[in-house]
Amino acid sequence: MIKRSISLILFSFLLLVRLSAGEGMWLPLLLRALNEKEMKSMGMKISAEDIYSINKGSLKDAIVHFGGGCTSEIISPQGLLLTNHHCGYGYIQSHSSIEQNLLRDGFWARNHAEELRCEGLTATLIVRMEDVTAQVLDGVGPTWKENDRRNRIDENIQKIKPRIVRLEDQDVFIRGFYNNNQYFAFVTEVFRDVRLVGTPPEAIGKFGADTDNWVWPRHTGDFSLFRIYAGKDNRPAPFDPANKPYVPKHFLPISLKGVREGDFTMVFGFPGRTNQYLTREGARQMVEVLNPVRIAQRDRALKIMDRKMRADAGTKIQYAPKYAGIANAWKKWIGENLGMRITGGLDRKAEQDSLFQARVSADPRFAPYANLVADLEDRYRRLEPFAHAREYYLETFHRNLDLVDFYQMVSGLINTYEGRGEEAFDKRRKEIRDLATAYYRDVNMDIDQEIFVSLGKEFYANVNPAFIYSHFRDLLERHGGDMDRMAAELYSSSLLTRPDALAALMDKPYAEWIRAVREDPVVKFYEEMKFYLDSDLNRMCSGFEDEIAELRRSHMAALIEVFPERRFYPDANSTLRVTYGKVEGYYPKDGVHYLNQTYLDGVMEKYVPGDYEFDVPKKLQQLYREKDYGPYGENGKMPLAFIGSNHTTGGNSGSPAIDAHGNLVGLNFDRVWEGTMSDINYDRSICRNIMVDARYILFIIDKFAGASWLVDEMKLVGLNKKLRKRK
Ligand code: ARG
Ligand code: GLU
Repeated sequence: MIKRSISLILFSFLLLVRLSAGEGMWLPLLLRALNEKEMKSMGMKISAEDIYSINKGSLKDAIVHFGGGCTSEIISPQGLLLTNHHCGYGYIQSHSSIEQNLLRDGFWARNHAEELRCEGLTATLIVRMEDVTAQVLDGVGPTWKENDRRNRIDENIQKIKPRIVRLEDQDVFIRGFYNNNQYFAFVTEVFRDVRLVGTPPEAIGKFGADTDNWVWPRHTGDFSLFRIYAGKDNRPAPFDPANKPYVPKHFLPISLKGVREGDFTMVFGFPGRTNQYLTREGARQMVEVLNPVRIAQRDRALKIMDRKMRADAGTKIQYAPKYAGIANAWKKWIGENLGMRITGGLDRKAEQDSLFQARVSADPRFAPYANLVADLEDRYRRLEPFAHAREYYLETFHRNLDLVDFYQMVSGLINTYEGRGEEAFDKRRKEIRDLATAYYRDVNMDIDQEIFVSLGKEFYANVNPAFIYSHFRDLLERHGGDMDRMAAELYSSSLLTRPDALAALMDKPYAEWIRAVREDPVVKFYEEMKFYLDSDLNRMCSGFEDEIAELRRSHMAALIEVFPERRFYPDANSTLRVTYGKVEGYYPKDGVHYLNQTYLDGVMEKYVPGDYEFDVPKKLQQLYREKDYGPYGENGKMPLAFIGSNHTTGGNSGSPAIDAHGNLVGLNFDRVWEGTMSDINYDRSICRNIMVDARYILFIIDKFAGASWLVDEMKLVGLNKKLRKRK
């Protein structure tokens, strides 16, 4: 009787915390079992089989992992690829020079011959995935320690891979899911001849830059176009001018109908990493201990860079990409903490922990799980001081400084010599000499030194003295505790801070080379740090982290067992996922409502002539003035971006937003600031992904750039016949 009422209470609780539509990054091959019904109830008109099939062409055949970090999709029968401008950035930059500045001016090939080769860029298609859990865990004992388990799993994976049925030119990799409770093998095709086809100028593709990053309302035309080329028989092949555009099994038609509040959308792509099932303590450590360290140190580094960039145009060019990289994560973490605070994220985690605990104590079968949450809390608590110090080391001496890159070049060379001998060393150091020259071009050592001082002071003031390695303490003492003097001496006496000195060093025979290197104060500074971290701090961290990994794996398995009525999706791990939700606005704070759609009007509202973030190309202004939107406008306005409750994360950049019929309606490129906490705590009320409207993309290609030959190879849906003729 008592037990009954408890489960009744539990059940009503559960209704409160069940997944809200929108949450989840689902496995394509399980859609039919887990999601199809809900997707249809939300308005989807196609079937799970239309999305993922191994028997016929399906949407998944159009979804392409772009360079390993972003997503892209095929939008024509000739392998035309759509992705974000910020995903193609490096390749656009590599084709840019002073005379021909593709970043500034944009680029549009006029035919296939003008498309630009992108060395190193890969486009990966997923052929199929299959569950290989039994084989991967073969022989692994249930009580094995994390290390032994890992070794056995690695061995097993090496054995399984060759046995996975596939064509000779297909690749295979295996990944763990649900905190390594389940394993899937992925058969892939990797295309290595991928060419740049078109990109708008930065003033469109990066409009709003860092100020608007992670923010709604948004007006960025964040897209670029590439093309996959294939060799004989349409198979993957290395670059060859004779290669032909790839003919896909499926490509996405593009809808011109636009979206309305409440419309079904799904986003199909390769989300990178999330931590949805953290207990309260795990989430608390991230929000209250680690994020504040990261945010505080980056605040300092960014302020220094910003001041220097504003004072000098050359510095601006040097530091803009660095600044953007550091600021991107910094701004995300601030948003994450904000979102957790305003939605009571930690309380929600605590609620989930106690719900779990209540079920476990109500059923003797679950007795083995009784201590999981408490054990996790205990390990997180013990890890905390170490993790805090480690984060300070990383943010102070590694992530925000350039100095460390030069040290790493040199230490890599030592390893080359010791591991592979003199010949390999000689070859490698020539490469490094060139690499270093390129590096120096984008570094101003005075700025680096100023950052070192500012962050170093903070490090010294906030890190528990027990975790400050002795070399650092001695060095600082020798300079009378004066960080400025210590840094000045380090930077001025090292060979790594001066291109000419490093170049001269690189010409010396090994014996002389290694002597000079060993004596270098910066090398010593980092070598001693590395020794301390490897033998002490990091070792302590990974000890606890192994235990945490083990406990989290058990906790995940227990959650699935204890809540059989719930659907669980695995954390993101850079594998192909489907997420779905609705087009919807949100209430970011009291008294404010954000609509779901923006228009070109907003670009003109934000326009600041000559400003590098908010300048607007003349041609775009003219099209706006004349309302010359071709068939892409709507009621005299040009739609630009929209938001929805699709659950996305980093890696989903460039993912297609697909409508109920399987047509592309948008291109994912960001999330809203208040909602970036969706990586640990998705909340339908404020978590939104941001997409460029497909009609804006077409408008820019067609009306702005005049590259209508590209639009002609696409399949447009919902194009009014009369308008088409007029166009
Ligand atoms: N916030 C987006 C992402 O996480 C866009 C980043 C690129 N844009 C920028 N302004 N830094 O990747
Ligand atoms: N801009 C992110 C990316 O490059 C996507 C935004 C997000 O993190 O949701 O993957």
